[in-house]
Amino acid sequence: MAKLIEASSHVRGASRFIEDISLPQHTLYAACLFSQEVGTIVDLNLEPALAMEGVVSVLSAADIPGRNQIGGIFADEPLLAGAETHYIGQPMALILATTRELAYRARALLNPTIEPGRVITTAQEADQLGEYLFPERTMQKGDVDAHWGQCDLVVEGTTHSGFQEHVYLETQASLAMPEERGRIRILASTQGPTAVQRMTARVLGLPMHHVEVDVLRLGGGFGGKEDQATPWAVLAALGAHATGHPVKLALERHDDLMATGKRHPYSSSYKLGLKKDGTILAFDVTYLQNGGACADLSPAILERTVCHATGSYEIPNVRILARGCKTNLPPNTAFRGFGGPQAHFVIEAAIAHAARKLNLHTSQIQAKNLLEEGDRLPFGQVLEACHAKACWAEVQSRYNLEQALAKRDAFNKDHKLKKKGVAMMPVCFGISFNKTSMNQAGALVHIYQDGSVGVSTAAVEMGQGVNTKLCHIAATVLGISMERVHVESTNTTRVANTSPTAASSAADLNGKAVERACIMLRSRLLTHLAAKKNMLFKHLDLAKDQVYSEGKPLQYSWNRLIRSAFEARVDLSEHGYYATPEIYWNKEENQGKPFAYHTYGTAMICAEVDILRGTYHIDSVQIVHDFGKSLNRDIDLGQVEGGLAQGIGWMTLEEISYDERGRLLAANLSSYKLPDLGACPKKVDTHFLETDGNEKAVFKSKAIGEPPLLYGIGAYFALLDAIRAFKDIPLDHIQAPMTPEQLFNYCHKNEP
Ligand code: MTE
Ligand code: MOS
Repeated sequence: MAKLIEASSHVRGASRFIEDISLPQHTLYAACLFSQEVGTIVDLNLEPALAMEGVVSVLSAADIPGRNQIGGIFADEPLLAGAETHYIGQPMALILATTRELAYRARALLNPTIEPGRVITTAQEADQLGEYLFPERTMQKGDVDAHWGQCDLVVEGTTHSGFQEHVYLETQASLAMPEERGRIRILASTQGPTAVQRMTARVLGLPMHHVEVDVLRLGGGFGGKEDQATPWAVLAALGAHATGHPVKLALERHDDLMATGKRHPYSSSYKLGLKKDGTILAFDVTYLQNGGACADLSPAILERTVCHATGSYEIPNVRILARGCKTNLPPNTAFRGFGGPQAHFVIEAAIAHAARKLNLHTSQIQAKNLLEEGDRLPFGQVLEACHAKACWAEVQSRYNLEQALAKRDAFNKDHKLKKKGVAMMPVCFGISFNKTSMNQAGALVHIYQDGSVGVSTAAVEMGQGVNTKLCHIAATVLGISMERVHVESTNTTRVANTSPTAASSAADLNGKAVERACIMLRSRLLTHLAAKKNMLFKHLDLAKDQVYSEGKPLQYSWNRLIRSAFEARVDLSEHGYYATPEIYWNKEENQGKPFAYHTYGTAMICAEVDILRGTYHIDSVQIVHDFGKSLNRDIDLGQVEGGLAQGIGWMTLEEISYDERGRLLAANLSSYKLPDLGACPKKVDTHFLETDGNEKAVFKSKAIGEPPLLYGIGAYFALLDAIRAFKDIPLDHIQAPMTPEQLFNYCHKNEP
């Protein structure tokens, strides 16, 4: 089994992050002044900070040499607030001082005058007022209105799912260094090095080749550094550009929590029509996405929501309406699942609601409507190798759903104030960026004279193990041990025009680019040897650091082969490039084949609630997941368990509120409840469903980063199932997270 190349340096504390970098001489520390009010800026009044000893400069919007604009999809996001502030936590000025402490002390002296304006904090309010960030999206399949009449049951309801804070261990951080001739070099903790490069160039009025971005690794990103690492890196670059000094900007946790966006809350309403036997005929759904004050990635996230509206189910008639609502909160952003989990929550809620009315267990309706090969999703993509039913069936037999339900019933009969619940959670997740052009990646592979290999790609290592996968791929294709391969930092001068490491696609896209580069190198090396030794190319093979001919080892070790090729002036470097074939997407019509493939899985979740206290625990989560041919079972298992815990956290514990002025309440980690060991399931089993994988997955090992988060949704429904054993609550409005307080209210107040 392939080892995990970063594990030992991580656990020994030897892995480096931005805060570990020894700073160059004369580095200035930056503190960002954030708005504390939504409204019109009457007087920024930066004088008190400027007057302080040790403060070198204080920069505001007026000091930006290029465009004051960092919006990626829509140009609606100033780097520094101009005339108005749109949310609390919006950057207004940058204070540069000789020490970090002085920068923060100078900031504390500032108190800009802002004339308060209207504040909207919820999607519903924005919808009523017609405040949107971008045009609404609609999608249709079949004809819902023509089918309600054929249904035996039509249920209508509303749902709400909440925010989620990323809680990457490493807060947003970057170090920008001025170089010769106006160039800037930026070390950043970002999932999107090219986004940082592009926006820095735009803000400073430089060509992109004047900006170099280097990313060693992230102490977690989870989507929170896909676009939202950009402002901090650009601000550091602005400071460096303006002062000629290196500038470090690393957010303190409080500032990070206050100023950055979260997973989008969604307020949704649905109508679901079924036959008596549970067959779903029609689904009509409206999503109101709480987008925050500017678009950020919200349109792309809403697009994924729309593409995942039907969850893991085949539904012949579907109508979808989705609105990105503009509110006065920090722009909400990418978070593992990217709008997919929000969609799955709604369809699962609708099915649970229908099951109650039909007097069925939810799993009976789920099982009846699962996707299969040949089904056409509402946006036109036809499923090819669909393992939804295989995963479900394997859970059912391996972990015995019937027995779990029987045990639940027996327990519930014996206990008045403790109840158990069981839920199944099937997952179907599209792999690729919806936006076709983003599905490309490059790799640069160097073989050095001593036989060691350096691999550079667009992929950013953020704990998900992509470096190990890339190392494994290069080593396998070249037939050498992983020790010979080093995966370099992600650097925009080595690999340009990088797509962000996101959409679970980094290993596929960059792995394929590495594979191609290494195939070229391997073939070039063996061609050289065949010519030199007068042997047939097709007889030669590279494996175990050695050349073989017709299966027998030659007197050519890898090192000798490389020396020989170098002497003969064979190019030992190669650029590999990969663009996912066959995919396309028509954004205007919301039709196409946006995904390279889908990933499938099913989880069975058993939970127990304490009716008196409102507390609960998850007894077990038993998963059958379609990994294809897993490249690294340790990494993949880690992604399943980590994603599951994060999903359970979102659905059951993690709660964020803003007051009516848009102020984040309790902006610290001591009051943000993350899943800890106690909250994690007592038992987690993950079975690897071995399938043929998919040609578009690197080494046929399917993308794993995001899909497992969705299993956490099952925890919510297992708790709901348990509550219903105590009290038959109506289910026409359900709300996540299921905190103990909320659970208590469901049991005793009949409302969330
Ligand atoms: N795992 C760890 N440990 N840390 C992370 O930040 N991010 C997740 C997932 N797993 C993340 C993680 C998200 S949001 C995505 S999109 C994928 O990893 C990105 O990496 P991949 O494309 O290599 O799967
Ligand atoms: Mo992941 S939300 O696509 O960064």
